[in-house]
Order: sequence, then C-alpha cells, then structure tokens
Amino acid sequence: MVAVAVLAAGKGTRMKSDLPKVLHPLAGKPMVERVIRSVQGLPVERLLVVVGHGAAQVKQALAHLSGVEFVEQSPLLGTGHAVQQLIPYLQDFTGDLLVLNGDVPLLRPHTLAQLVATHEQGQYGVTLLTALLPDPTGYGRVICDGQFQVSAIIEDRDCTPAQRQNQRVNAGIYCFRWPQLREVLPRLTTANQQQEYYLTDTVQWLRPARAVDILDVAEILGINDRKQLATATQLLYQRWRDEWMRRGVTMIDPLSITLEDEVELAPDVILEPQTHLRGRTVVGAGSHIGPGCWLENSQIGHDVRIMYSVITNSTVQSNCQVGPFAHIREQTEVGVHCRVGNFVEIKKTQVGNDSRVAHLSYLGDAQLGAQVNVGAGTITANFDGRDKHPTVIGEGSKLGANSVLVAPVTLGAGVTVAAGSVVTEDVPNDALVIARARQVVKPHWRPPYLRHQEHEPSP
Ligand code: UD1
Ligand code: CA
Repeated sequence: MVAVAVLAAGKGTRMKSDLPKVLHPLAGKPMVERVIRSVQGLPVERLLVVVGHGAAQVKQALAHLSGVEFVEQSPLLGTGHAVQQLIPYLQDFTGDLLVLNGDVPLLRPHTLAQLVATHEQGQYGVTLLTALLPDPTGYGRVICDGQFQVSAIIEDRDCTPAQRQNQRVNAGIYCFRWPQLREVLPRLTTANQQQEYYLTDTVQWLRPARAVDILDVAEILGINDRKQLATATQLLYQRWRDEWMRRGVTMIDPLSITLEDEVELAPDVILEPQTHLRGRTVVGAGSHIGPGCWLENSQIGHDVRIMYSVITNSTVQSNCQVGPFAHIREQTEVGVHCRVGNFVEIKKTQVGNDSRVAHLSYLGDAQLGAQVNVGAGTITANFDGRDKHPTVIGEGSKLGANSVLVAPVTLGAGVTVAAGSVVTEDVPNDALVIARARQVVKPHWRPPYLRHQEHEPSP
C-alpha cells in the first residue's frame, strides 16, 4: 500500500492565466485530474492533494473524485514546503509515499506501478523517475553514478555551467520511504536561487537513492506554459489515436483527428479528416464519420454515415445517414435507418425508425413516429416567447414542404400535411390537412399603371 501526494498548490505564473495552472483543461480534463488518474491500479491507501493557489477552485474541480484528501499549503514556499504540510496527516503512516507533481500529467499507470515495484524490491530510501533529454533546460539535473545511485538533484537555475550539461533530468515523480523522508524534511533550507524549500534537496540525505530512466520521455513532460500545454494535448491525442488504430479503426489523416479518453470506437470505424470526438462518445462498427464532424457525448450505432455535422448529447441508431451540415443536439434520439440531411437542426426530439428529415428543417421538442417524412423546410414552432411546447407526429405521416407546426400540436398517424401549411390545431389519423390560403388566379391581370393600354395577350 502506498500513500500518494499530488503537489498542486503552485500558481503557474508562466501560464499567464486567472485559472490555477493545474486546472487548465488537458484533452478535456483538468491537468491535475489526469495526474490523479495516473495512479489507477496502484494499491493506494491515501490520496492527498496539496492545494494553495486557488485552493477553493481546485477542491471544487476535484470534488467528484472519491477518496481525495486536501492539504492546504499557505504561503507557498516550494515543493519541499508542500510536502512538509503532509506531516500531520501521515503521523501513523509507515509505508511509501508516491509524490507526483500536479503539472506532469502524461504518466502512464504502468510506469508508476513499475517505479513503485523497483522501489520496494530494492528497498530504496527514494526512487525517482528520470530521463535523458536532448534539451534538459528548465528541469532539475540528477547527479548519479553508473549504477543509478543518486547523490543530488540540482535545479536548473542553481546549476554550474558544467552541471547544466548533464542531460539526466528529474521528472518530479518520486517514491519515498515516508518514515525516512519525514525525518529529513525539517532540514530543508531556502539557500537557493528561488529561495524556496526544494523537495529535491531531500534526496541527498536519503540512502540508497535510485534513479529510474523512463523509456518514453513524453510521459514526463512538465507543463509550465501554454506551449507545453499544447504539446501535451497533441501527445495525448496521438496516444489514443494509435491505440484505436491498433484496435481496428481506420483514420484518414490521423493528425487532423482529435479524440478524448472516454471515446469508444468499434472495429472498422472509419474516421475522415477533421473529425473530433469528445466526451463519452461511442461509435458502432462500420460507421464512417467525417470529414468535418464534431461528436460530443453521443452514441452512434453501427453502419452510420455522417458528414460535416455536429452531434451533441444525442443518439443516432444504426444505418442512418446524417449530413452534410446537420446539427443534432441535446437529448435527441434518431432511430434506425433514418436520414437527417442538409441544413437540418434537431433538438430534444425522438425520430422514429425509417424516418426522413432530409432538407432545411428545424425540429425541437418533437416526437416523430416511424416512417415519417418531413418535407423540405418544415419547422416546429416550439417556442411562444416564454415556454417551449411539444409537437407529436404519428407514424407514417407526411409533412409537405415548408409547413410550420405551431406547438403544442398533435398530428395522428398517416396524416398528410399540404405544403406550405401552418398547422395550429390537432389533426386526427389518416387526415389531409391544408392550412394555407386558397390559391387565387386572376386571368388577364395587369398592373394598374398599364391598365389604360390596349391589352395584348402574352405570347
Ligand atoms: C520541479 C522540480 C524539478 C523537476 C521539475 C519536473 C523542485 C524544486 N524542482 O521543478 O527538479 O525537474 O519539477 O517538472 O521540486 N507546488 C506546490 N507548492 C509550492 C510550489 C510548487 O504545490 O510551493 C507544486 C506546483 O503546483 C507544481 C509542482 O509542485 O504542480 C512543481 O512545481 P514547479 O514550481 O512547477 O516546479 P519546477 O520548477 O517545474
Ligand atoms: Ca513544473
């Protein structure tokens, strides 16, 4: 069993932001939440998050995670000072403490599990993740011998020019034997360039101290500015794309596709360029999405074809065709074998199986039975200026082009609505409703300014 401490109190000055750095969203989740999730699978006994700058905001953003204890740090006097705040919380704790920087969010759970395993097997005082970086600028440098025995960590700003040449960097991820660390924490001083208590200074007093080089250096990217945030986002997208391709998804131009970690794709899904899958979006086998789609928290069945469309918080069942240029939003459910075509917006609506809404329509707060055909330009007038009202359309009904259904209104099954109708009253089953002015034809009609002239029939 280990205790985990996430250091998340810093301001993150280099982000130039009102939002605390650790709350900046990284591929859809606050970066500190990604750090916390990276301990998944470890036998975690305690999970402590050190908060300081924007503490209330950070606590609120993490409130949905269970088992998190918050430790307040004030004032903020460095990473060593942050860990000193844990002492009263871990009085009786005698196990290992895994310390994670709240701004190092790309770690894989497997990497941390291995770090802990190495630490326990070797009975080290501290085991820390390190990496050899071609450009180590900004990171603390780890001084160690050929057997990875660490003697010290020197911060970039405190390095001599010779030490700065050392390319082995400190990832900011450590497994400490807590009783040993607790003994040496009070020894820390602020005798350094930043005048802070450095957690890294404890390593010189902990024996044996072991460095573990990471294989995939991308995992230890620390985020201090917006450029690193963008790099981290790209790396995560790439990780997830690679994984889905491995599992049988085709991606045309993968670099232009973005997707988040709760997305689920079946084999033989094809993603075209500029397709963006967000939140809990699920796509069934053989569906072909894009180019140019945004799908958010939506469930798409199998063999669905979607082009240039936006779908949020909705369900589209199998064998449907959507788009180009459709917008399906908020609790819409589209049944099987439907067509939702060009310039159609649908909101909070159920569309029954085998129905078609092919062109230029708005359906809001409506319930359509199966095999309904919605003619081009049909609109549900669902809003009276204050409230929204429902429209019900029975099975097999056909709505003529350019009709307006003024809600609340119910059309039975098998109803035909004449084109251009404005339907304000309920219609029974199997009826034809014509709700428009009768056509008037005036033969041989001429505008008043021509009426004095002799009439010549048009050719
Ligand atoms: C730290 C390490 C450095 C390492 C780098 C890896 C130290 C002294 N240096 O440097 O060796 O290479 O991480 O990314 O630890 N924090 C607090 N309270 C504080 C100060 C910081 O909770 O008083 C938190 C921050 O929110 C952040 C983390 O600790 O999540 C690291 O702090 P930061 O100031 O970014 O340290 P670095 O300079 O990056
Ligand atoms: Ca940092």
